[in-house]
Amino acid sequence: MEEVFQLWPELEWIEDKELREKTGRVWKLALERSVLTAEDLRRIPFTLLCGPDLNVSFMDHKRAVVHIARESALKIGEFFNDELPVNMDTLLAGAILCDVGKLLEYELDTDGKAVQGKYGKYLRHPFSGVSLAEECGLPPEVCHIIAAHAGEGDMIRRTTEAYIVHHADFMTFLPFKERLK
Ligand SMILES: [Fe+2]
Repeated sequence: MEEVFQLWPELEWIEDKELREKTGRVWKLALERSVLTAEDLRRIPFTLLCGPDLNVSFMDHKRAVVHIARESALKIGEFFNDELPVNMDTLLAGAILCDVGKLLEYELDTDGKAVQGKYGKYLRHPFSGVSLAEECGLPPEVCHIIAAHAGEGDMIRRTTEAYIVHHADFMTFLPFKERLK
């Protein structure tokens, strides 16, 4: 568990002890089942969709999403008070877990490069992420954020927390993708 807390110092922001530990446990389980190590996550690019020149690591991107989601929730609270309530613990757990399923989606090729594996082709990370999270007892409002954070979530009604995580994720992804054009 120490490795997970080193990878994710943001876990300490989750106030509810049980939720914090369950969230950490999902990452521990994913690392046990993945071909990727914690060190790989600090090295591999955060997406396979932006070509070989992307120098932003998986962890730098994922942690940025958590920071941006948290700051956004604080500003929403500051300006809208109770008009748009945000559950910070739910938001943080969902943001920390939104891409955990990628650990099952990726395989390493012979050069050590992360590529999408067979499992990931059938079950993208929003699905494998929910599966891992439910196995660790995460509540449905957190699983919902994982399920809805990517394009698949456009088909359903997102909670406020899921909207925030979705936009934090995409605002730090789409500009990199656009850069290719
Ligand atoms: Fe994602």
